Amino acid sequence: MNEHVLPPLPYADNSLDPVITAHTISFHYRKHHQGYVDNLNKLVSGTDYAALSLEKIIAATSGQVEAAAIFNNAAQIWNHTFYWKSLRAKGGGEPPAALKEKMVAAFGSVDVCKKELSSMVVSQFGSGWGWLVLDGDKLKVVKTANAETPLTTGVKPLLTIDVWEHAYYLDYQNRRADYVAAVLDKLINWEFALENINA
Ligand SMILES: [Fe+2]
Repeated sequence: MNEHVLPPLPYADNSLDPVITAHTISFHYRKHHQGYVDNLNKLVSGTDYAALSLEKIIAATSGQVEAAAIFNNAAQIWNHTFYWKSLRAKGGGEPPAALKEKMVAAFGSVDVCKKELSSMVVSQFGSGWGWLVLDGDKLKVVKTANAETPLTTGVKPLLTIDVWEHAYYLDYQNRRADYVAAVLDKLINWEFALENINA
């Protein structure tokens, strides 16, 4: 049995305050993220999935209607771990040169890249995620609904923004666009995206 555990949050609950408050982080990480871990452990117990890593469970259950609950919880664990790493205190600002070069090549400028990511994720109908990904050698922005993850589509995820309401409602209520703009300007971890390009 491969017991899944909640990965450590890479900073204190109040590190992203006031853009994302400790109140939001504590519910989001300690209740929602933990909940997906607990659910997955229950769902895979006694099944063939019990011996598999998180990534293998996601790959094996993607698109399988009868395994939707397992996929949803596994993908949500992975997506959230990736989201925490996509943010940092005093983030935003100018991306590192190697990332900036790819943004300019794909979008014309850093600002256009940010705008396209922002408008894509703000327009996600209902719950989901916005992603900067590497498709071959080219940067792209994509969105996914609910627990869906670009991991299963052959592209390399570089960073993500969670737009489930639990990610912002305590701090921003219905103002999703304000939350996304604040995250991109003040918290986004461009260095993490670059690490993923080089990984
Ligand atoms: Fe979330």
